[in-house]
Amino acid sequence: MASLKFVPKEERQEQVVLARQLESSANVQLHGATVTSLTLNGCDRLFVSEKAVFNNKKAIRGGIPVIFPQFGPWDLGAQHGFARTTPWVLTDKQTDPKKEVLCTFELEDDLETRSIWNHKFKIKYTVALKKKNAVFDFSVTNTGLAKLEFTCLLHTYFRVDDIANVSITGLNGLEYVDKVRGGATFTEDRDLVTVGENYDRVYQQTPNKHEIRNTIDGATIILEKNNFPDTVVWNPWAEKAKQMSDFGDDEYTKMICVEAGHVSTPVTLQPEQTFFASQSIAVKS
Ligand code: BG6
Repeated sequence: MASLKFVPKEERQEQVVLARQLESSANVQLHGATVTSLTLNGCDRLFVSEKAVFNNKKAIRGGIPVIFPQFGPWDLGAQHGFARTTPWVLTDKQTDPKKEVLCTFELEDDLETRSIWNHKFKIKYTVALKKKNAVFDFSVTNTGLAKLEFTCLLHTYFRVDDIANVSITGLNGLEYVDKVRGGATFTEDRDLVTVGENYDRVYQQTPNKHEIRNTIDGATIILEKNNFPDTVVWNPWAEKAKQMSDFGDDEYTKMICVEAGHVSTPVTLQPEQTFFASQSIAVKS
């Protein structure tokens, strides 16, 4: 059995529910194409704040917001760009149980996006439930006549039992920009990166695979990525959590963001060129 259904607007925002037998499921909001639930091996692996706002305006605090065309503060608009706060269009769905279950969302420039950022583009984002993992394929095509430059990232919030026990592999020896320490660059010297303070680091030239250990249920998440050269690790910790209206004061203990992106340098596309990148999330058996 595989299925895909719309949940009516009255129940939160409009969303698409994907399910693959009883093994895995995902909910994707049309608002921002934000994945707000991803059940793998019987447990939702994504953190969404109890205070997250679902009003088709604000970015959703949790899940997997899509960041485009700007990671971080932006002179032209809101931090992290407009893709996470814009309605996307569902353009394809595949529910054949013999194949994978997937849905594709698209976002193209329109009057509103061009009033902020005067460029033409088309993004395709496919969320697929496979036998053992969920795959997120992201592509951007330059549909204009001028060069296109942007940064992009999948801002994944993972659920954890207790941040104190969580560790991340694959970062030792890498340079990172520490946004908490004025954007200075340091070199990571730990095999297992743990987080115990306000943490906001952009690791550069990271390998295509990280393990995130001791997440919810003690599970190890395998995060694999392709053509996303950077990995951002973020947790606001206690003080910053208190300043966020859509995040509970103690919720920082229950989440870790490990974000695959192309953010240290922009992607540059000539007219008609397409950028492809992807990530995969699986539970280690
Ligand atoms: C992270 C950034 O990716 O997102 C942080 O590195 C930022 O600097 C965090 O604070 C959350 O951003 P926002 O806009 O969703 O509050």
